[in-house]
Amino acid sequence: MKKFSKGIILAGGSGSRLYPLTKSCNKHLLPIYNKPMIYYPLSTLLQAGIHDILIISSDEYIKDFIRLFGDGSSLGIKISYKVQENPNGIAEAFLIGEDFIGESNVCLILGDNVFYGSELENYLNNASINMSGCSVFSYHVSNPSDYGVVEFNENKVISIEEKPKIPKSNYALTGMYFCDNRCVEYAKSIEPSERGELEIVDVLKKYLDNDSLEVFSMKKGFVWLDTGLPMNLLEASNFIKTIEDREGINIGCIEEISLNKGFIDKDQYDKLISSMPSSAYKKRVDFNDGNY
Ligand code: DAU
Repeated sequence: MKKFSKGIILAGGSGSRLYPLTKSCNKHLLPIYNKPMIYYPLSTLLQAGIHDILIISSDEYIKDFIRLFGDGSSLGIKISYKVQENPNGIAEAFLIGEDFIGESNVCLILGDNVFYGSELENYLNNASINMSGCSVFSYHVSNPSDYGVVEFNENKVISIEEKPKIPKSNYALTGMYFCDNRCVEYAKSIEPSERGELEIVDVLKKYLDNDSLEVFSMKKGFVWLDTGLPMNLLEASNFIKTIEDREGINIGCIEEISLNKGFIDKDQYDKLISSMPSSAYKKRVDFNDGNY
């Protein structure tokens, strides 16, 4: 059984598809309903029990993330920061994070991925426990050409391609990757693609070639949203609002998850909530009193 305590959130990139929203603001700080986008992937790492987290972003915006989360101690976790000089590709996260990763396993999550559903914790557990090298998730979509696409034969992975023009299946790879320590070595061994990026799929192919890639499928009804386009921001915001209001829960609430995972105790939690300015967010969190 592999244990994951370390996670990386990749929150750089140019955000060009969201222009002009991203002209003066990092994409991952834009709102998805009532929280900055990055709260959602952070909350997913916390749900996986990961409490040592590296946030990677561009030089221009790293200070904004530091202002948002500090060193993470108020949530009972550790957050550190590193700069990605240019958007050289997702796999560069393993190179930038090499010292942070050290000898450990690591879960890389993209800063624009939102996961929601009662099965999430099971998925996270399965991915980390049953790992033969690297565990990733597939999700059935109507627009596979926009993603990394995985082709199966029975349950065996046959191929992985990044944004293929003619996709071999409708199964997209989500932006969450549970990797053993080889990810660093593999990221060092790949070359930039035609579009000039170190592609995450090329790292995954190394695992596949070494018979060490596990793809778990996220079932129908589970929700995975990627928030790369303006309409995605709106859809994701509407979705979060609808579920939060209807079910009386908070999605992506990092304070509640930290409490429930035991990273902070109830006293620390209460202090954290009372330090928040009067707001709709505080009201909701107060109302739930730590239950999620
Ligand atoms: O969301 C899942 C998909 O994410 C996967 O299916 C694809 O295989 C994977 O390549 C990726 O595709 P995207 O087109 O969504 O990647 P994008 O360039 O939009 O970057 C995803 C996130 O990573 C985004 O939040 C910005 C961040 N990023 C990206 C790059 C290339 C960085 O911080 N630095 C980078 O160099």
